[in-house]
Amino acid sequence: MTLIRQKRRAGQGGPDQTGGGGHFLRVSLHAKQSLAFVSPATELLYGGAAGGGKSHLLRVSAIRWCLEVPGIQCYLFRKSHPDLRANHLRGAGGLPALLATATGRGLVKWHDQAREFRFDNGAILKLAHLQHEGDLDKYQGADIHVLLMDELTHFSAHQYRFLRARVRLGGLQVPDRYAALLPRIECATNPGSIGHAWVKRSWIEPAPPFQIHTAPTDDGGMQRQYIPARLADNPTLAERDPGYLARLEGLSHPALVKAMRDGDWDIVAGQALEMWSGERHVIRPFAIPRHWLRFRSIDWGSSKPFSIGWWAVADGNDGPLNKDGIPHILAAGTLVRYREWYGWNGAPDQGLRITARQVASGLLERQQEGEKIVYTVADRAMFNRNDGPSVAEHFARAGVPLRPSDSARKAGFQEVRARLIGTDGAPGLVVFDTCRDGAIRTLPNLVLDRDDPEDVDTRTEDHTYDELRYACMSRPWVQRSPRRSSAGDRWQQAFAPRPSAHWRTH
Ligand SMILES: Nc1ncnc2c1ncn2[C@@H]1O[C@H](COP(=O)(O)OP(=O)(O)OP(=O)(O)O)[C@@H](O)[C@H]1O
Ligand SMILES: [Mg+2]
Repeated sequence: MTLIRQKRRAGQGGPDQTGGGGHFLRVSLHAKQSLAFVSPATELLYGGAAGGGKSHLLRVSAIRWCLEVPGIQCYLFRKSHPDLRANHLRGAGGLPALLATATGRGLVKWHDQAREFRFDNGAILKLAHLQHEGDLDKYQGADIHVLLMDELTHFSAHQYRFLRARVRLGGLQVPDRYAALLPRIECATNPGSIGHAWVKRSWIEPAPPFQIHTAPTDDGGMQRQYIPARLADNPTLAERDPGYLARLEGLSHPALVKAMRDGDWDIVAGQALEMWSGERHVIRPFAIPRHWLRFRSIDWGSSKPFSIGWWAVADGNDGPLNKDGIPHILAAGTLVRYREWYGWNGAPDQGLRITARQVASGLLERQQEGEKIVYTVADRAMFNRNDGPSVAEHFARAGVPLRPSDSARKAGFQEVRARLIGTDGAPGLVVFDTCRDGAIRTLPNLVLDRDDPEDVDTRTEDHTYDELRYACMSRPWVQRSPRRSSAGDRWQQAFAPRPSAHWRTH
């Protein structure tokens, strides 16, 4: 156990109010936390088990930097605002409690509007989140001297890299003893969740635990270190809440128990569609040949978003050239999502709240003259009749007859995964780069169900996934061109290039 005592140093701005040199921050750290606290690494990950004392370490470390370095700006991130408050601002170990003595002596003040603690030496501890789309842009011009990320796997690699690019000293005067340590990043996390794969790739895979290694230059080039923490490394929890371990062990999936109790990174792969890749699955739009089978799929929502996808089935022959003169050659049977309508109001998981008839007519407006749609597969729930006509009946009356989807969730999950993986290196499903709101934004964020790793967590924004699952399970078929001769087909089979990387766009 380390006891950290912060005493106000003479001449450090403002009168000494500690009462004759008394200590105003008395915090103890457990052994593993102490290791992390004194680590010379500049891109540190402390983590693993649930309850291992991760959030506490970040709070104590942030306070240390603010007390030690006048004018420093520390940013403590959690993904959502409610988590930020619940985790860091409440309770006996929360920031206000840790800083109570200093606050009482006027050395620190909480500014609710700006959501930051201001220290009288000019240091700032800002509490930040990325709950809403666009939140990231707020940090575009920030100078972050110490970036603290709690539950790092809740963030995407893109968000992390963006924030890391804001980590810089600017005009900060750093005391000599901290010159090698600042600017720095300190992260804490459990395995699992949407960022599992990239966090594992960055910290867990390249080097054994505790070993400091230099990250590649195209990945920040900082001094990286992973310090694993198990539940047993936080004796406070066992003392205060002896039943916690049993509750963790009562999680229904043994893999999850291992991940949460021991911080085992090999067990839980949080991302449900980890094979999704912008490079492989997102393509530039091209004119779909007229004879390709086209259909639609729909997942209904009103207060939650609805999702509509328009699909075409490639026939294995080259499509027309795109605007860059590149032919699109997709394997026969590849599903091409060429249009989507994601019914959201711009805030994650918030629907448009419009009627079934409005959606049906909006759908028809989005189509082109003469576009031949062979069928529309839809969420089974749309056929439920409670007190009157079902959503499907409204659609039918508006000119959009629907066919109920296959409801087998697990088989559907496997089918979607198999399509994304594809065969011979070519994916069995691609999306136009215009399908941004539904497919491109939400598919990579899907998380496995914590209680059932063979399914997607339905609490995440899964509407496009469901709609895409209906599409994959609808047994679409390949429609060949009536004009192509069999000799032409034979030529294609013999000489046409295999589906390859050249049609990929990013
Ligand atoms: N060194 C310590 N001294 C006193 N209390 C501590 C210490 N470390 C952790 N705690 C307390 O133990 C409890 C769990 O710690 P903490 O919240 O930091 O764990 P965590 O790993 O972040 O957990 P989770 O996985 O739930 O986010 C908290 O009440 C915290 O205040
Ligand atoms: Mg925590």
